[in-house]
Amino acid sequence: MTEPVLPDLESARVDGLSALIEVHTSENLALWKTAHLGKSSPVMLALSGLGKLPADIRPRAGQLANQARQALEAAYEEKSAAIRQENLLRTLEDDRVDITLPGRPARRGRLHPAMQNLRDIYHVFAEMGFQVFRSPDVETDEYNFELLNIPAHHPARDMWQTFYTTRPGVLLRTHTSPGQIWAMRERAPESIRVILPGMCYRYEQITTRSEIQFHQVEGLMVGRNVTFADLKGTLTDFARRMFGDSVRTRFRPSYFPFTEPSAEMDVECFLCGGAGCTVCKNAGWLEILGCGMVHPVVLSNGGYDPEIFSGFAFGMGPERITMLRRKIDDIRYFWGNDTRFLEQF
Ligand code: DAH
Repeated sequence: MTEPVLPDLESARVDGLSALIEVHTSENLALWKTAHLGKSSPVMLALSGLGKLPADIRPRAGQLANQARQALEAAYEEKSAAIRQENLLRTLEDDRVDITLPGRPARRGRLHPAMQNLRDIYHVFAEMGFQVFRSPDVETDEYNFELLNIPAHHPARDMWQTFYTTRPGVLLRTHTSPGQIWAMRERAPESIRVILPGMCYRYEQITTRSEIQFHQVEGLMVGRNVTFADLKGTLTDFARRMFGDSVRTRFRPSYFPFTEPSAEMDVECFLCGGAGCTVCKNAGWLEILGCGMVHPVVLSNGGYDPEIFSGFAFGMGPERITMLRRKIDDIRYFWGNDTRFLEQF
């Protein structure tokens, strides 16, 4: 019969403590903990085996085992704190930020050239007392055509091929002119002085001068005794403020179903000063807008009695105007999203 012996807790303690000296990382510390304080470590086995020891040596064994465990646990805590501190110092050192370095400059955005130009236009008309009035991009056939005196099958519809939606009679507006109806129906019978800027859409061949989407700025003035002289004066003044005091303008007779009489306004070519060049196709003049006196049918569709009220309207393509002012030779640059183009303005 073998004598039950006290487990060698002294060497378990000494082994553990000396092994801990070699531990410098948290990974190794975890391994050390399993080996020296885990369930199958000598000290823990001694503690769990206490019950099998004879009663006379059990208290002494328990005392020694507990002392060994406490020593190892204390050493473990101390080591663990030291490693944490070391890790912290290393991260601070490695991830050091030099707060004295100059920052990276933020690249500043700016307004799109089309928007800069629109704002110039708003400004000029604001000075003449015109408010900005917004109307929908998605329109009905009724507003885009019918109420503007363009019935179904009217040949003038050929000027405005559009994109139709899947809902019958609903389309993307081909021009800002339907906004005239919105403005009149909202304001009648008050007098009106508004501009109606917005995006328009046309189903057509894309070229250097035409796109499937583009801005227009519509204008509408309605009141008593509004005459063609008011139209001419307003638009001539607009051209002077936009292109400079010395710019020459001319009005040519034209046709639009929603105005009578109708005209188009040209400005002198900015490049050749009227002598004739490639930009103006040797005409010396560049067309910038259509205009006319609001047709009586349109006035009454808007809720005004054409016997009492009269008005003028115009519609311009501001991208064309930007092209003239900035000497841009292809309208497709506008919505191409190429920063090499946009950064120039
Ligand atoms: N809506 C016309 C177009 O898109 C432009 C226009 C011409 C508007 C004459 C007008 C106007 O208000 O009076 O071609």
